[in-house]
Amino acid sequence: MLRKLLIGTMLSGALTAGYAAPSFADEVEVLHWWTSGGEAAALDVLKKKLESQGVTWKDMPVAGGGGEAAMTALRARVTAGDPPTAVQALGFDITDWAKQGVVGDLTDIATKEGWDKVIPAALQQFSKYDGKWIAAPVNVHSTNWIWINKKALDAAGGKAPETWDELIAVLDKMKANGISPIGHGGQAWQDATIFDAVVLAEGTDFYKQSMIDLDPAALNSDKMVEVFDHMAKLREYVDADFSGRDWNLASAMVIEGKAGMQFMGDWAKGEFLKAGQKPGVDFVCIRFPGTQGAVTFNSDQFMMFKVGDAEKKAQDLMASDIESPDFQSAFNVVKGSAPARTDVPNTAFDDCGKKAIADLAEADKNGKLFGSMAHGHANPAAVKNAMYDVITRHFNGEMDSKAAAAALAEAVAAAKG
Ligand code: GAL
Repeated sequence: MLRKLLIGTMLSGALTAGYAAPSFADEVEVLHWWTSGGEAAALDVLKKKLESQGVTWKDMPVAGGGGEAAMTALRARVTAGDPPTAVQALGFDITDWAKQGVVGDLTDIATKEGWDKVIPAALQQFSKYDGKWIAAPVNVHSTNWIWINKKALDAAGGKAPETWDELIAVLDKMKANGISPIGHGGQAWQDATIFDAVVLAEGTDFYKQSMIDLDPAALNSDKMVEVFDHMAKLREYVDADFSGRDWNLASAMVIEGKAGMQFMGDWAKGEFLKAGQKPGVDFVCIRFPGTQGAVTFNSDQFMMFKVGDAEKKAQDLMASDIESPDFQSAFNVVKGSAPARTDVPNTAFDDCGKKAIADLAEADKNGKLFGSMAHGHANPAAVKNAMYDVITRHFNGEMDSKAAAAALAEAVAAAKG
Protein backbone atom coordinates (compact mmCIF):
# COMPACT_ATOMS: atom_id res chain seq x y z
CA MET A 1 0.00 0.00 0.00
CA LEU A 2 1.17 3.53 -0.61
CA ARG A 3 2.70 5.15 2.43
CA LYS A 4 1.67 8.73 2.14
CA LEU A 5 3.88 11.50 3.34
CA LEU A 6 2.28 14.77 4.25
CA ILE A 7 2.85 17.10 1.35
CA GLY A 8 3.37 20.00 3.72
CA THR A 9 6.03 18.21 5.73
CA MET A 10 7.77 17.13 2.57
CA LEU A 11 7.68 20.65 1.15
CA SER A 12 9.14 22.31 4.21
CA GLY A 13 11.76 19.53 4.42
CA ALA A 14 12.64 20.12 0.81
CA LEU A 15 12.91 23.85 1.29
CA THR A 16 15.15 23.44 4.31
CA ALA A 17 17.32 21.03 2.38
CA GLY A 18 17.48 23.53 -0.47
CA TYR A 19 16.25 21.39 -3.38
CA ALA A 20 13.10 21.50 -5.48
CA ALA A 21 10.24 19.54 -4.03
CA PRO A 22 8.36 17.08 -6.23
CA SER A 23 4.84 18.19 -7.12
CA PHE A 24 3.52 15.47 -4.84
CA ALA A 25 5.01 13.04 -2.41
CA ASP A 26 4.16 9.43 -2.74
CA GLU A 27 5.20 5.88 -3.05
CA VAL A 28 4.22 2.98 -5.25
CA GLU A 29 4.40 -0.55 -3.95
CA VAL A 30 4.92 -2.92 -6.85
CA LEU A 31 4.46 -6.69 -6.73
CA HIS A 32 6.32 -8.56 -9.50
CA TRP A 33 8.34 -11.69 -10.29
CA TRP A 34 11.16 -10.05 -12.22
CA THR A 35 14.05 -11.33 -10.14
CA SER A 36 16.48 -12.78 -12.72
CA GLY A 37 19.43 -10.65 -13.88
CA GLY A 38 17.83 -9.60 -17.17
CA GLU A 39 14.40 -9.04 -15.65
CA ALA A 40 15.76 -6.95 -12.78
CA ALA A 41 17.77 -4.82 -15.22
CA ALA A 42 14.59 -4.07 -17.19
CA LEU A 43 12.57 -3.31 -14.07
CA ASP A 44 15.28 -0.90 -13.01
CA VAL A 45 14.45 1.28 -16.04
CA LEU A 46 10.95 1.82 -14.63
CA LYS A 47 12.11 2.20 -11.06
CA LYS A 48 14.67 4.87 -12.01
CA LYS A 49 12.15 6.78 -14.12
CA LEU A 50 9.69 6.98 -11.24
CA GLU A 51 12.38 7.86 -8.72
CA SER A 52 13.53 10.73 -10.96
CA GLN A 53 9.97 12.08 -10.67
CA GLY A 54 9.99 11.98 -6.88
CA VAL A 55 8.10 8.72 -6.42
CA THR A 56 9.51 6.18 -3.99
CA TRP A 57 9.57 2.61 -5.25
CA LYS A 58 8.63 -0.02 -2.69
CA ASP A 59 9.68 -3.33 -4.13
CA MET A 60 7.71 -6.52 -3.53
CA PRO A 61 9.49 -9.22 -5.53
CA VAL A 62 8.09 -12.75 -5.45
CA ALA A 63 10.50 -15.05 -7.29
CA GLY A 64 9.17 -17.72 -9.63
CA GLY A 65 9.08 -17.57 -13.43
CA GLY A 66 5.62 -17.41 -14.97
CA GLY A 67 4.27 -15.68 -11.85
CA GLU A 68 2.35 -18.43 -10.03
CA ALA A 69 3.99 -17.66 -6.70
CA ALA A 70 3.39 -13.94 -7.23
CA MET A 71 -0.32 -14.55 -7.75
CA THR A 72 -0.48 -16.58 -4.52
CA ALA A 73 1.23 -13.73 -2.64
CA LEU A 74 -1.21 -11.28 -4.17
CA ARG A 75 -4.18 -13.32 -3.00
CA ALA A 76 -2.94 -13.08 0.58
CA ARG A 77 -2.54 -9.29 0.32
CA VAL A 78 -5.98 -8.74 -1.19
CA THR A 79 -7.59 -11.03 1.37
CA ALA A 80 -5.94 -8.97 4.12
CA GLY A 81 -7.46 -5.83 2.56
CA ASP A 82 -4.02 -4.42 1.79
CA PRO A 83 -3.29 -4.78 -1.94
CA PRO A 84 -0.13 -3.26 -3.46
CA THR A 85 -0.43 -0.22 -5.75
CA ALA A 86 0.46 -2.09 -8.92
CA VAL A 87 0.93 -5.75 -9.73
CA GLN A 88 2.61 -7.48 -12.67
CA ALA A 89 -0.04 -9.78 -14.12
CA LEU A 90 -0.85 -11.82 -17.20
CA GLY A 91 -3.93 -12.11 -19.43
CA PHE A 92 -6.84 -13.95 -17.86
CA ASP A 93 -5.47 -13.41 -14.33
CA ILE A 94 -6.14 -9.69 -14.83
CA THR A 95 -9.74 -10.41 -15.82
CA ASP A 96 -10.16 -12.74 -12.83
CA TRP A 97 -9.05 -9.98 -10.43
CA ALA A 98 -11.25 -7.42 -12.16
CA LYS A 99 -14.27 -9.66 -11.63
CA GLN A 100 -13.63 -9.45 -7.89
CA GLY A 101 -14.07 -5.69 -7.95
CA VAL A 102 -10.70 -4.83 -6.41
CA VAL A 103 -8.93 -3.19 -9.34
CA GLY A 104 -8.52 0.53 -9.98
CA ASP A 105 -9.45 2.66 -12.98
CA LEU A 106 -6.97 4.16 -15.45
CA THR A 107 -9.58 5.35 -17.94
CA ASP A 108 -8.96 9.09 -17.45
CA ILE A 109 -5.24 8.89 -18.12
CA ALA A 110 -5.73 6.33 -20.92
CA THR A 111 -8.27 8.57 -22.65
CA LYS A 112 -6.15 11.67 -22.22
CA GLU A 113 -3.14 9.90 -23.74
CA GLY A 114 -5.04 8.07 -26.50
CA TRP A 115 -3.99 4.52 -25.54
CA ASP A 116 -6.92 3.11 -27.53
CA LYS A 117 -5.28 4.08 -30.81
CA VAL A 118 -1.81 2.66 -30.17
CA ILE A 119 -2.27 -0.44 -28.02
CA PRO A 120 -3.25 -3.50 -30.08
CA ALA A 121 -6.70 -5.03 -29.56
CA ALA A 122 -5.07 -8.33 -28.55
CA LEU A 123 -3.69 -6.57 -25.44
CA GLN A 124 -6.67 -4.29 -24.81
CA GLN A 125 -8.91 -7.31 -24.26
CA PHE A 126 -6.95 -7.84 -21.03
CA SER A 127 -6.14 -4.20 -20.14
CA LYS A 128 -9.82 -3.34 -20.02
CA TYR A 129 -12.77 -4.67 -18.08
CA ASP A 130 -16.32 -3.48 -18.39
CA GLY A 131 -15.15 -0.71 -20.74
CA LYS A 132 -12.62 0.67 -18.22
CA TRP A 133 -8.82 0.58 -18.42
CA ILE A 134 -7.56 -1.36 -15.41
CA ALA A 135 -4.00 -2.25 -16.42
CA ALA A 136 -1.08 -0.71 -18.28
CA PRO A 137 0.57 -3.15 -20.72
CA VAL A 138 4.34 -2.90 -20.57
CA ASN A 139 5.45 -5.33 -23.29
CA VAL A 140 4.62 -8.14 -25.68
CA HIS A 141 6.60 -11.33 -25.23
CA SER A 142 6.22 -14.46 -27.27
CA THR A 143 6.88 -18.07 -26.40
CA ASN A 144 7.68 -19.81 -29.71
CA TRP A 145 11.40 -18.96 -29.76
CA ILE A 146 14.60 -20.98 -29.62
CA TRP A 147 17.83 -19.46 -28.22
CA ILE A 148 20.91 -21.20 -29.58
CA ASN A 149 24.55 -20.93 -28.54
CA LYS A 150 26.31 -19.82 -31.74
CA LYS A 151 29.52 -21.80 -31.18
CA ALA A 152 27.54 -24.95 -30.41
CA LEU A 153 25.48 -24.40 -33.57
CA ASP A 154 28.62 -23.89 -35.67
CA ALA A 155 30.07 -27.10 -34.25
CA ALA A 156 26.83 -28.85 -35.23
CA GLY A 157 26.97 -27.76 -38.86
CA GLY A 158 26.14 -24.07 -38.55
CA LYS A 159 22.62 -24.13 -40.02
CA ALA A 160 19.73 -23.07 -37.81
CA PRO A 161 16.97 -25.71 -38.04
CA GLU A 162 13.85 -24.82 -40.00
CA THR A 163 11.94 -28.09 -39.75
CA TRP A 164 11.33 -30.66 -37.05
CA ASP A 165 13.73 -33.14 -38.75
CA GLU A 166 16.45 -30.50 -38.99
CA LEU A 167 15.94 -29.66 -35.33
CA ILE A 168 16.40 -33.31 -34.31
CA ALA A 169 19.50 -33.59 -36.52
CA VAL A 170 21.09 -30.55 -34.83
CA LEU A 171 20.19 -31.86 -31.36
CA ASP A 172 21.79 -35.22 -32.23
CA LYS A 173 24.98 -33.49 -33.37
CA MET A 174 25.13 -31.41 -30.19
CA LYS A 175 24.74 -34.59 -28.15
CA ALA A 176 27.56 -36.23 -30.13
CA ASN A 177 29.67 -33.12 -29.46
CA GLY A 178 29.38 -33.79 -25.74
CA ILE A 179 27.06 -31.00 -24.56
CA SER A 180 23.55 -31.15 -23.22
CA PRO A 181 21.52 -30.33 -26.37
CA ILE A 182 18.61 -28.65 -24.56
CA GLY A 183 18.95 -26.41 -21.51
CA HIS A 184 15.67 -26.81 -19.65
CA GLY A 185 14.23 -26.44 -16.20
CA GLY A 186 11.68 -29.01 -15.08
CA GLN A 187 8.95 -26.73 -13.78
CA ALA A 188 5.37 -27.06 -15.02
CA TRP A 189 5.27 -23.62 -16.63
CA GLN A 190 8.54 -24.26 -18.48
CA ASP A 191 7.31 -27.62 -19.82
CA ALA A 192 4.13 -25.81 -20.89
CA THR A 193 6.15 -23.08 -22.63
CA ILE A 194 7.71 -25.73 -24.90
CA PHE A 195 4.26 -27.24 -25.36
CA ASP A 196 2.91 -23.91 -26.73
CA ALA A 197 5.43 -24.08 -29.58
CA VAL A 198 5.04 -27.80 -30.25
CA VAL A 199 1.24 -27.41 -30.57
CA LEU A 200 1.61 -24.31 -32.78
CA ALA A 201 3.95 -26.29 -35.06
CA GLU A 202 0.98 -28.57 -35.85
CA GLY A 203 -0.73 -25.58 -37.47
CA THR A 204 -2.40 -22.36 -36.42
CA ASP A 205 -5.90 -23.87 -36.80
CA PHE A 206 -4.92 -26.70 -34.48
CA TYR A 207 -3.50 -24.29 -31.89
CA LYS A 208 -6.71 -22.29 -31.96
CA GLN A 209 -9.01 -25.32 -31.80
CA SER A 210 -7.14 -27.02 -28.96
CA MET A 211 -5.59 -24.25 -26.85
CA ILE A 212 -8.07 -21.37 -27.31
CA ASP A 213 -11.40 -23.00 -28.19
CA LEU A 214 -10.72 -26.12 -26.08
CA ASP A 215 -12.43 -28.33 -28.66
CA PRO A 216 -12.51 -31.83 -27.07
CA ALA A 217 -12.03 -33.46 -30.47
CA ALA A 218 -8.81 -31.48 -31.02
CA LEU A 219 -7.57 -32.04 -27.47
CA ASN A 220 -7.90 -35.81 -27.79
CA SER A 221 -6.80 -36.22 -31.41
CA ASP A 222 -4.07 -37.96 -33.42
CA LYS A 223 -2.42 -34.56 -33.82
CA MET A 224 -2.32 -34.11 -30.05
CA VAL A 225 -0.78 -37.59 -29.72
CA GLU A 226 1.90 -36.41 -32.15
CA VAL A 227 2.43 -33.27 -30.03
CA PHE A 228 3.04 -35.45 -26.97
CA ASP A 229 5.34 -37.72 -29.03
CA HIS A 230 7.38 -34.64 -29.94
CA MET A 231 7.52 -33.59 -26.28
CA ALA A 232 8.77 -37.08 -25.36
CA LYS A 233 11.40 -36.87 -28.11
CA LEU A 234 12.64 -33.48 -26.85
CA ARG A 235 12.79 -34.89 -23.31
CA GLU A 236 15.59 -37.22 -24.54
CA TYR A 237 17.87 -34.20 -25.04
CA VAL A 238 17.49 -32.70 -21.56
CA ASP A 239 20.19 -33.32 -18.93
CA ALA A 240 19.66 -35.47 -15.85
CA ASP A 241 19.57 -32.55 -13.38
CA PHE A 242 16.78 -30.60 -15.04
CA SER A 243 14.14 -31.16 -12.39
CA GLY A 244 13.09 -27.94 -10.63
CA ARG A 245 15.81 -25.83 -12.30
CA ASP A 246 14.92 -22.14 -12.74
CA TRP A 247 14.59 -20.94 -16.33
CA ASN A 248 17.40 -18.40 -16.05
CA LEU A 249 19.81 -21.12 -14.93
CA ALA A 250 18.85 -23.04 -18.06
CA SER A 251 19.59 -19.85 -20.06
CA ALA A 252 22.97 -19.66 -18.29
CA MET A 253 23.78 -23.20 -19.49
CA VAL A 254 23.28 -22.02 -23.09
CA ILE A 255 25.20 -18.79 -22.47
CA GLU A 256 28.14 -20.79 -21.10
CA GLY A 257 28.00 -23.39 -23.88
CA LYS A 258 27.12 -26.24 -21.51
CA ALA A 259 23.82 -26.61 -23.35
CA GLY A 260 23.11 -26.03 -27.03
CA MET A 261 19.72 -24.32 -26.99
CA GLN A 262 16.75 -23.31 -24.90
CA PHE A 263 13.08 -23.24 -25.90
CA MET A 264 11.85 -20.18 -24.05
CA GLY A 265 10.04 -16.88 -24.43
CA ASP A 266 12.07 -13.83 -25.35
CA TRP A 267 12.65 -12.85 -21.73
CA ALA A 268 15.56 -15.32 -22.17
CA LYS A 269 17.22 -12.73 -24.41
CA GLY A 270 17.42 -10.43 -21.39
CA GLU A 271 19.76 -12.98 -19.77
CA PHE A 272 22.02 -13.21 -22.84
CA LEU A 273 22.26 -9.42 -23.03
CA LYS A 274 22.93 -9.10 -19.30
CA ALA A 275 25.83 -11.56 -19.79
CA GLY A 276 27.26 -9.25 -22.46
CA GLN A 277 26.31 -11.52 -25.38
CA LYS A 278 25.22 -10.32 -28.81
CA PRO A 279 22.67 -11.78 -31.21
CA GLY A 280 24.23 -13.21 -34.36
CA VAL A 281 27.65 -13.26 -32.67
CA ASP A 282 27.24 -15.26 -29.45
CA PHE A 283 23.69 -16.52 -29.80
CA VAL A 284 21.06 -17.03 -32.46
CA CYS A 285 17.29 -16.51 -32.14
CA ILE A 286 14.88 -18.47 -34.31
CA ARG A 287 11.22 -19.34 -34.26
CA PHE A 288 10.46 -22.93 -33.28
CA PRO A 289 10.51 -24.95 -36.55
CA GLY A 290 7.05 -25.09 -38.12
CA THR A 291 5.83 -21.93 -36.35
CA GLN A 292 7.46 -19.33 -38.63
CA GLY A 293 4.96 -16.53 -39.35
CA ALA A 294 2.86 -17.30 -36.27
CA VAL A 295 3.22 -16.00 -32.72
CA THR A 296 2.00 -17.18 -29.31
CA PHE A 297 2.16 -14.04 -27.21
CA ASN A 298 1.94 -12.95 -23.60
CA SER A 299 1.92 -9.40 -22.36
CA ASP A 300 3.04 -8.30 -18.92
CA GLN A 301 0.69 -5.64 -17.64
CA PHE A 302 0.73 -3.60 -14.47
CA MET A 303 -2.70 -4.14 -13.04
CA MET A 304 -3.70 -1.31 -10.73
CA PHE A 305 -5.55 -1.70 -7.47
CA LYS A 306 -8.01 0.70 -5.83
CA VAL A 307 -6.12 3.37 -3.88
CA GLY A 308 -6.85 6.71 -2.18
CA ASP A 309 -6.76 10.08 -4.00
CA ALA A 310 -3.18 11.06 -3.14
CA GLU A 311 -1.89 7.63 -4.07
CA LYS A 312 -3.87 7.69 -7.28
CA LYS A 313 -1.58 10.45 -8.58
CA ALA A 314 1.48 8.24 -8.29
CA GLN A 315 -0.42 5.33 -9.77
CA ASP A 316 -1.50 7.39 -12.79
CA LEU A 317 2.04 8.70 -13.19
CA MET A 318 3.37 5.13 -13.19
CA ALA A 319 0.82 4.12 -15.85
CA SER A 320 1.62 7.19 -17.95
CA ASP A 321 5.36 6.48 -17.72
CA ILE A 322 4.83 2.86 -18.77
CA GLU A 323 2.92 3.89 -21.89
CA SER A 324 5.31 6.63 -22.97
CA PRO A 325 7.01 5.68 -26.28
CA ASP A 326 10.50 6.47 -24.93
CA PHE A 327 10.03 4.20 -21.95
CA GLN A 328 8.53 1.46 -24.14
CA SER A 329 11.70 1.48 -26.21
CA ALA A 330 14.18 1.72 -23.33
CA PHE A 331 12.48 -0.98 -21.26
CA ASN A 332 11.80 -3.52 -23.99
CA VAL A 333 15.30 -3.28 -25.45
CA VAL A 334 16.57 -4.61 -22.10
CA LYS A 335 13.71 -7.03 -21.38
CA GLY A 336 13.82 -8.88 -24.72
CA SER A 337 10.20 -8.12 -25.56
CA ALA A 338 8.46 -6.01 -28.20
CA PRO A 339 6.76 -2.74 -27.21
CA ALA A 340 3.11 -2.80 -26.18
CA ARG A 341 2.44 0.15 -28.51
CA THR A 342 2.47 -0.13 -32.29
CA ASP A 343 4.06 3.30 -32.85
CA VAL A 344 7.43 2.79 -31.13
CA PRO A 345 10.41 2.99 -33.55
CA ASN A 346 12.45 -0.23 -33.75
CA THR A 347 15.74 1.66 -34.17
CA ALA A 348 17.11 0.98 -30.68
CA PHE A 349 16.36 -2.78 -30.88
CA ASP A 350 18.88 -5.48 -31.84
CA ASP A 351 18.17 -7.96 -34.66
CA CYS A 352 16.17 -10.35 -32.45
CA GLY A 353 14.13 -7.41 -31.14
CA LYS A 354 13.49 -6.14 -34.67
CA LYS A 355 12.38 -9.65 -35.64
CA ALA A 356 10.09 -9.82 -32.59
CA ILE A 357 8.41 -6.54 -33.60
CA ALA A 358 8.10 -7.53 -37.28
CA ASP A 359 6.85 -11.06 -36.53
CA LEU A 360 4.21 -9.69 -34.19
CA ALA A 361 2.87 -7.22 -36.77
CA GLU A 362 2.88 -9.85 -39.51
CA ALA A 363 1.18 -12.51 -37.36
CA ASP A 364 -1.45 -10.00 -36.25
CA LYS A 365 -2.15 -8.95 -39.84
CA ASN A 366 -2.49 -12.56 -41.01
CA GLY A 367 -4.68 -13.81 -38.16
CA LYS A 368 -1.78 -15.90 -36.78
CA LEU A 369 -1.38 -14.19 -33.42
CA PHE A 370 -2.61 -16.27 -30.48
CA GLY A 371 -2.53 -15.98 -26.71
CA SER A 372 0.04 -18.24 -25.04
CA MET A 373 -1.56 -21.10 -23.13
CA ALA A 374 1.51 -21.45 -20.89
CA HIS A 375 1.41 -17.78 -19.88
CA GLY A 376 -2.26 -17.30 -19.16
CA HIS A 377 -3.36 -15.71 -22.43
CA ALA A 378 -5.42 -18.57 -23.86
CA ASN A 379 -7.65 -19.50 -20.94
CA PRO A 380 -8.22 -18.75 -17.26
CA ALA A 381 -5.89 -20.22 -14.62
CA ALA A 382 -8.13 -23.19 -13.83
CA VAL A 383 -7.84 -24.53 -17.39
CA LYS A 384 -4.17 -23.57 -17.66
CA ASN A 385 -3.31 -25.43 -14.47
CA ALA A 386 -5.26 -28.51 -15.60
CA MET A 387 -3.17 -28.55 -18.79
CA TYR A 388 0.09 -27.95 -16.88
CA ASP A 389 -0.59 -31.03 -14.79
CA VAL A 390 -1.00 -33.40 -17.74
CA ILE A 391 1.88 -31.90 -19.74
CA THR A 392 4.30 -32.23 -16.83
CA ARG A 393 3.23 -35.74 -15.88
CA HIS A 394 3.73 -36.85 -19.46
CA PHE A 395 7.08 -35.03 -19.75
CA ASN A 396 8.25 -36.90 -16.67
CA GLY A 397 7.29 -40.24 -18.20
CA GLU A 398 4.23 -40.91 -16.05
CA MET A 399 2.03 -41.67 -19.07
CA ASP A 400 2.36 -42.36 -22.78
CA SER A 401 1.27 -39.94 -25.50
CA LYS A 402 -2.10 -41.56 -26.21
CA ALA A 403 -3.03 -41.53 -22.53
CA ALA A 404 -1.83 -37.93 -22.25
CA ALA A 405 -4.07 -36.69 -25.08
CA ALA A 406 -7.06 -38.40 -23.47
CA ALA A 407 -6.12 -37.03 -20.03
CA LEU A 408 -5.75 -33.53 -21.46
CA ALA A 409 -9.29 -33.56 -22.87
CA GLU A 410 -10.64 -34.93 -19.59
CA ALA A 411 -8.76 -32.47 -17.37
CA VAL A 412 -9.88 -29.51 -19.46
CA ALA A 413 -13.51 -30.65 -19.40
CA ALA A 414 -13.36 -30.93 -15.60
CA ALA A 415 -11.67 -27.53 -15.21
CA LYS A 416 -14.26 -25.84 -17.43
CA GLY A 417 -16.85 -27.16 -15.01
C1 GAL B 1 6.57 -14.62 -17.97
C2 GAL B 1 6.60 -13.11 -18.03
C3 GAL B 1 7.94 -12.65 -18.48
C4 GAL B 1 9.05 -13.32 -17.70
C5 GAL B 1 8.81 -14.82 -17.51
C6 GAL B 1 9.81 -15.51 -16.61
O1 GAL B 1 5.32 -15.06 -17.55
O2 GAL B 1 5.64 -12.66 -18.95
O3 GAL B 1 8.04 -11.25 -18.37
O4 GAL B 1 9.18 -12.67 -16.51
O5 GAL B 1 7.54 -15.08 -17.04
O6 GAL B 1 9.84 -15.00 -15.33
